[in-house]
Amino acid sequence: MSVPAPEIRILPSAEAAVPLLLDELRRTVTRFERPLVSFATGGTFTAMLRALVREFTVGKPGTIFGREFSATHLDEYAGFDPTRDGGMVHELTTACPPLSAMLAAERFLPVPHVEDAAAIGRHAERLRAAGGVKLQFLGIGRNGHIAFNEPGTDLDGGFHATDLAEATRRDARARFAPAEPPRRAITSGVGTILGAERLVLCAFGSAKAPAIEAMLRGDVSPACPASAVRRHADVLVLLDAAAAAGITDESVAP
Ligand code: PGA
Repeated sequence: MSVPAPEIRILPSAEAAVPLLLDELRRTVTRFERPLVSFATGGTFTAMLRALVREFTVGKPGTIFGREFSATHLDEYAGFDPTRDGGMVHELTTACPPLSAMLAAERFLPVPHVEDAAAIGRHAERLRAAGGVKLQFLGIGRNGHIAFNEPGTDLDGGFHATDLAEATRRDARARFAPAEPPRRAITSGVGTILGAERLVLCAFGSAKAPAIEAMLRGDVSPACPASAVRRHADVLVLLDAAAAAGITDESVAP
């Protein structure tokens, strides 16, 4: 069955994505009753998370935090509880303290940091009970991973514990130095990600250009897990010119 191709927008800069990402969030929290929004971590989303802090005015109409929603995220390093520096929940709540308040109120559903099948299953069940993810933000690794679904992964899979690819560990090295980057993580599966109502994937900078080209112009294949987003009918891809270098042709509107 064919699905509409992802909408691709090439922006003048990474900063230009921030208001668009906040608009996505605003539309989702307005359109749905208590929607579940799944955030992505990584440098790509830091500016957006910082800007989101300014939306934190409890109950003020028109602000994102003036609406009720639940939050979750894509993945966590094994052994990294929410207080541990370097972990994904720690990153999210540090960049955006209102998410910390949501965590305390159990309206932020953290990915388990333990490799325990029952805990991982319970997390997936909690997401389902919250109505499933309405809006999923996504980054992409230089090796084409989404969340920690590394090349070779099952494109239909659910939440699971996984090894990190060496390329992923290399890219994470600075974050953990002088300690070694983690080897294992608990991650949302590609199948889980594709279950979200809408996907918004961002990539900025020339280092991401080959992965974006493989995602949008290569085969849909486990060799590039991000290529699976082409199976989804409602995808927005936000790029800067450098990340779009491998796909820029007459078929892509500027
Ligand atoms: P980044 O990570 O935003 O730090 O580039 C994205 C990813 O690896 O998924």
